[in-house]
Amino acid sequence: MRTLRTIAWTVLAGISLGVAGAIAIIHSGIYNVAADLPHHPVEYWALYKAREHSVARRSRELLPPDDFMAEHRLVRGAVIYEEACALCHLRPGLADTGFRRGLLPTPPDLTRWGRDPGETFWMVKHGVRMTGMPAWGRTYLDDDLWSVVAFLQRLPSLQEEEYLGMLAAGKTNPPEPAPAGSEISAARAGER
Ligand code: HEC
Repeated sequence: MRTLRTIAWTVLAGISLGVAGAIAIIHSGIYNVAADLPHHPVEYWALYKAREHSVARRSRELLPPDDFMAEHRLVRGAVIYEEACALCHLRPGLADTGFRRGLLPTPPDLTRWGRDPGETFWMVKHGVRMTGMPAWGRTYLDDDLWSVVAFLQRLPSLQEEEYLGMLAAGKTNPPEPAPAGSEISAARAGER
């Protein structure tokens, strides 16, 4: 009984010291929040693992619409990509941008990339906390976001002329902005 009590007090003291230490570090300003230095490998590992598991868990039941890879979707997706993504994620004929250079983590080059459509949709809709990746569900309808996800499947095989051709075709039918309000918030709450 006595040993148990000693163990409990030791654990409690350890936790209190840890919390006090963390608060002291936060207040001291020692932690460098600059985005032009790489993360510590342990910090990077924790952020990377947390993101991968979080996205996998939340996107398990997300399935693409039946007409996922239809031409009209690819064209719509190209227009949104040019409007909202290329500045950070590049496109055929755009190999670097100031935005991209200054971000930590560096946004992945989506012209050389691939990921499961459900996971992609979730990340594009909800964004990724503590990175520069915005939550696009506040700007575009789900149906349009699926079009972007479809376009991302095609992007790595596109030449610049094809890309520009898709943009020209898509300009005649631009995407609608998502309506601000309760419907979207309710849908989002249901997907957590
Ligand atoms: C301001 C810069 C910025 C813009 C604009 C942006 N993103 Fe991102 N995006 C990022 C960053 C930074 C990451 C890396 C997040 C991470 O490492 O967890 C990211 C990650 C992603 C990923 C996940 C890649 C992976 O496999 O981990 C996808 C998919 C993505 N973005 C798609 C898009 C799409 C589609 C758009 C436009 C609708 C867009 N992004 C606009 C910065 C941006």
